[in-house]
Amino acid sequence: MTTLSTLRKYKKEGKKFSCLTCYDAMFARMMENAKIDTILIGDSLGMVVQGHDSTIPVTVDDMVYHTSNVARSNDHALILADLPFMSYTTLEDAIVNSRRLMQAGAHVVKLEGGAELCEIVSTLAKVGTPTCVHLGLTPQSVNVFGGYTIQGKTEDKAQKLIDDAKAVVEAGAAMLVLEVVPSDVGKRVTEAVDVPVIGIGAGADTDGQVLVMHDMLGVTHGRVARFVHDFLSDERNQSRSVEAAFALFHQAVQEGSYPSVENQFLI
Ligand code: KIV
Repeated sequence: MTTLSTLRKYKKEGKKFSCLTCYDAMFARMMENAKIDTILIGDSLGMVVQGHDSTIPVTVDDMVYHTSNVARSNDHALILADLPFMSYTTLEDAIVNSRRLMQAGAHVVKLEGGAELCEIVSTLAKVGTPTCVHLGLTPQSVNVFGGYTIQGKTEDKAQKLIDDAKAVVEAGAAMLVLEVVPSDVGKRVTEAVDVPVIGIGAGADTDGQVLVMHDMLGVTHGRVARFVHDFLSDERNQSRSVEAAFALFHQAVQEGSYPSVENQFLI
């Protein structure tokens, strides 16, 4: 069973860990067999399961339903669940909605933002709820960004990400997710904090790597992001089975062959 202490130990030892999004029981079971270290019930389910064009319509009820389906079927991974859009704008909402996710089987709740989350993060830590803060490209703010674009490209913006990371960790965040930033920014953020950092499009130097399950199985619609690799049709996956694709992803992350240079933003 993977715990936060396992991941902290991995970070100290320089051992990489895997994370995939998951939304239902059968895939959760296959991920257990493939030894995926951490699972994220992401609000990306709004797009890949529900057919919306963003994560914004996803509700707390949706997240509770999918979290409980996954948690019942995986005894190996550390389970992270997203607090969806506008479900943590007040301390009271953050506490009530985190309680629902934790009671559905999450071990950690994930929130999007930066240093402005410090009060929420420290309050949740005090009431026994570990948090993972999602920095960089935060999809719930797509309307603020005006699209899904690379973040932290200038020195000022990179430094702001590092400062935000340090602030939320100081406030008690147990983990970070860092999405779509140049690889050297991924490295700097990872080195700046002593908690595990999971990257998605954040280069090869983050402590862990996460992909949306549908993307890494080649089940995509529209443009495929640079950081996505299809592990189902990868020639190393001789059986072409979904479970073998999960196992290959886990192996590739551990040995450092994913993300390759082609999967990175080397600006
Ligand atoms: O919702 C999600 O799937 C995520 C990942 C992209 C990290 O937040």
